[in-house]
Amino acid sequence: MIQFDAKAKIVISDSLSEDIFAILQEESASDIVIITDASVADNPSIKKLKLFLESKFKIRYETIKVVEPTTDIVNKYTSEFRKNPPDLLIGIGGGSTLDLVKALSVMILHEGPVEDYHGTGKPFTRGIRKILIPTTAGTGSEVTKGAVLVNEKTKFKRAIGGKYVTADYAVLNADLTITMPDTVTACTGMDALAHSVESYTAKCSNEITRMYSLQAFSLIYNSLPKIFEDKNNLEYRRNVLLGSNLAGFAIYNSDTGACHALSYPLGIYNHVPHGFAVATLFPEVVAINVGKGCNLYADLYDRIAGAPRLENPAEKSAAFAKMIASYKPLSYLGKKFRDYGIDETKIDFLAERGLDLKSALNNNPIEFTFEDSKSAFLKVIGGK
Ligand SMILES: [Fe+2]
Repeated sequence: MIQFDAKAKIVISDSLSEDIFAILQEESASDIVIITDASVADNPSIKKLKLFLESKFKIRYETIKVVEPTTDIVNKYTSEFRKNPPDLLIGIGGGSTLDLVKALSVMILHEGPVEDYHGTGKPFTRGIRKILIPTTAGTGSEVTKGAVLVNEKTKFKRAIGGKYVTADYAVLNADLTITMPDTVTACTGMDALAHSVESYTAKCSNEITRMYSLQAFSLIYNSLPKIFEDKNNLEYRRNVLLGSNLAGFAIYNSDTGACHALSYPLGIYNHVPHGFAVATLFPEVVAINVGKGCNLYADLYDRIAGAPRLENPAEKSAAFAKMIASYKPLSYLGKKFRDYGIDETKIDFLAERGLDLKSALNNNPIEFTFEDSKSAFLKVIGGK
């Protein structure tokens, strides 16, 4: 059996205020909470949206600053909003903000702390309707079913999920991504690119998810480098935002792979932003997979504009690994692992903990061992 699950209604928006207003009318919402990432709170389009909505609805605001959403943060806001739940939530920001809003949308209507619902915990039976508006083009959180949360006491990074966690509307407005600094464009864009590639080669992929993955890869790979030359070009921004969204649908249904497994301990133990961790590890993981005989990258190679014509899957996959390693956005990441306090002494620990996220690791197209994990961390930490 092949299945493809897609709950969120996608709105590609050219006029944010009018498009959000139309959704709120459709939803008959009157009491609305808007949660905004602090880094975009001064964005002119977002300010205009808030002013417009204030004149029509009862609006409550929260502005938050969060690198990775934690269970403690979710529990704090949950207790605040349980006293007076809104009709509808609007989340505006990067993946961390959107994941927080997704978690709140269910936790406000359920009892107990969010830790009770982690993993195989209690199921969610309802959720507050929500609109998610990404301001980065990377995580695909606006359509995925999980809200990834870090438990700082147990050092676990896990998702709560299900249909009530997933957004009801994902509004894509490329204007909002123009103010991203180059480093954020590069890190989040590389995360989205990794989603498209890992979901394509995933063991859990199927013919529908691969269709989404291929189109996502094509949109992101061919447009992301051009953004750094022409920052206000809305066509490139829109391509990457839509590609990120399609890749979100793909990972929703077929999950990721070894690169995402390896990235997890970096966020938990060293507070390395997810996009940076994925971007840095991704070329190494692709090279290891190809080195061990994985030739599944051929169709992706064929989507690269202007790539030399090659004949067989092995040649194409080898060339693909080289093109990923020299991909221009990698030169805009801005930092190195050492900037997060990570050096050679951490390699064995990270290589071991990088094998913990079994759902992603076992979804890698080939077996990914401790030696492979160590090799990837050695390259990105030891060699630079
Ligand atoms: Fe990711």
